[in-house]
Amino acid sequence: CGIVAYVGDKVAYPILIKGLQRLEYRGYDSAGVALINSDIHTYKCLGKVKDLETHAKGKHLSGTIGMGHTRWATHGEPNDTNAHPHTSMNGKFTLVHNGIIENYAHLKKELELRGYVFQSETDTEVLVNLIENIYQEQKVDAEIAVRLALSKVIGAYGLVISCTEEKEQLIAARKGSPLVIGVGDHEYYLASDASPIVEYTDQVIYMNDEDVAIITKDDLILKNIQNDAQKPKIQKVELTIDEIDKGEYEHFMLKEIHEQPSSIGDTFRGRISIDKTKIFLGGIIDVMPKLTQAKRIIIVACGTSWHAAMVGEYLFEEYARIPVEVEYASEFRYRNPVINADDVLIAISQSGETADTLAAIKMAKKQGATIVGICNVVGSSIPRETHAGVYTHAGPEIGVASTKAFTSQVTVLTMMAFMLGRKRGSLYDELYKQLIQELTLVPEKIKHILRSEQYIKDIAETYKDASNSLYLGRGVLFPVALEGALKLKEISYIHAEGYPAAEMKHGPIALIDENMPVFVLATKDKSYEKIVSNIQEVKARNGKVIAVVTEGDQTIKKLADHVIEVPDCHESVAPLLTVIPLQIVSYYIAVMRGCNVDQPRNLAKSVTVE
Ligand code: G6P
Repeated sequence: CGIVAYVGDKVAYPILIKGLQRLEYRGYDSAGVALINSDIHTYKCLGKVKDLETHAKGKHLSGTIGMGHTRWATHGEPNDTNAHPHTSMNGKFTLVHNGIIENYAHLKKELELRGYVFQSETDTEVLVNLIENIYQEQKVDAEIAVRLALSKVIGAYGLVISCTEEKEQLIAARKGSPLVIGVGDHEYYLASDASPIVEYTDQVIYMNDEDVAIITKDDLILKNIQNDAQKPKIQKVELTIDEIDKGEYEHFMLKEIHEQPSSIGDTFRGRISIDKTKIFLGGIIDVMPKLTQAKRIIIVACGTSWHAAMVGEYLFEEYARIPVEVEYASEFRYRNPVINADDVLIAISQSGETADTLAAIKMAKKQGATIVGICNVVGSSIPRETHAGVYTHAGPEIGVASTKAFTSQVTVLTMMAFMLGRKRGSLYDELYKQLIQELTLVPEKIKHILRSEQYIKDIAETYKDASNSLYLGRGVLFPVALEGALKLKEISYIHAEGYPAAEMKHGPIALIDENMPVFVLATKDKSYEKIVSNIQEVKARNGKVIAVVTEGDQTIKKLADHVIEVPDCHESVAPLLTVIPLQIVSYYIAVMRGCNVDQPRNLAKSVTVE
């Protein structure tokens, strides 16, 4: 979910709406605002921010203080009532909330015994009533009531709350779900990330867990739930407006696909020496001894980041000769995994906020492992929990389906694998230098692939009506097959499965008929001959083969229905090239099927619930 709020001299409503549009990628099933003037006016509805605008049109929209919310449902289906903001039963408090109150059922029961009646099915309404109940029964200030209520809460929250009896102020609190305060001139902004804030100010404060902020237009008090004063640390935010604008592109996803030559360049800029002979990752220097001597590396992540992790597994084992286990963060944290002090845990996350990944880090840290983060969003929660890390520097990724964040994550992992290999002596210097060279050539090679966009779009046209599809790859291209399948299912809602190509004959081959498009990653590498056989197996069952091949490949051209060529490259960097056509195919199929590419149904960009 996304939260935005404003306190100052300007009219809040347009700021809130614009902010919600910027945050919409975080959730978009319903939206709402509360505007505080002589009264509190709340408008909320099922649907997107533009539906909220229509709903609010012509209504009372004044007020220089306000809050807004765009939702990704956890408790209760998306509808008008469950949308935020929520107001307490006696109308004293209005609240927007991101996260989950885990003990809400117990708190709700207690409040019901005290006569509280609930309108919605949300955990948020429980919280707002709990605050009101404490406020009224204990006759304390709003801020104290908020802190007392939060001390009873188990779960995660980022929240902004207003009290009708203390209208000039907003109270914000954070635990687990991010909140950023923008500091203006006699005004403050609040948001789940800096994107709604950057057009007004570049001065921000990232709230820490258990921080509570009491904000009026002229004053900010920061404390923690226990009432200890906290010193606000004002930072300059690097984000620019251009980075969060679609520019000439129809969708963020297409823009982000096209940004990859430069985003990958940004990932290795300053980290590869000018003569291309050395890799230097400043963020992990302190943990290098641990990393080079690690008995095992565990990589945790979710979604697309998990696919990047799998690419990492191949590369670390191949070049650094360190055993690697890749784990879904959500599985890892709820098992009773064996973690040793000489394990290094690498957590990969674009947003740096994914709840399961964060929890996995905390668990492994407690058990003595060294934690390294690979994140895109600077200052987000995960980098703050890790011992060391590498930012991917891909720039903001707004399309829900991850593209440039994935290639930047893979770039970081590739650099780490090469560097560790060299440090551990498993990679000899000559090959090390050759591999670095290869990596630096990737941006130009991606530019070359992007020139085939129209050709790839035509292939998309041919398969846009498919109901199922298969993606096959071997070795380091197996995770790319998984990622290709994920891209297609996420945004076009076509069922897609990624498989190790050799595993196809143990099951998925039963699905193949003349209607089944099979995407095969078949660039020239050590398993080339094998993948050619796999293509033949598909063709023998009349499947349609779309093969991603090395430029000039004549053998597969004769077998496949379509070939998409990528420039010749060393197999260690092949994931970075071969994923590009798959992203483009998915993008165009989704567009042709009339799907909302940037905001696919049911998904959210940043999943801060478990
Ligand atoms: C969500 C997004 C995915 C993303 C995953 C992990 O499900 O829709 O695109 O891969 O979260 O996110 P993270 O920010 O941790 O990489």
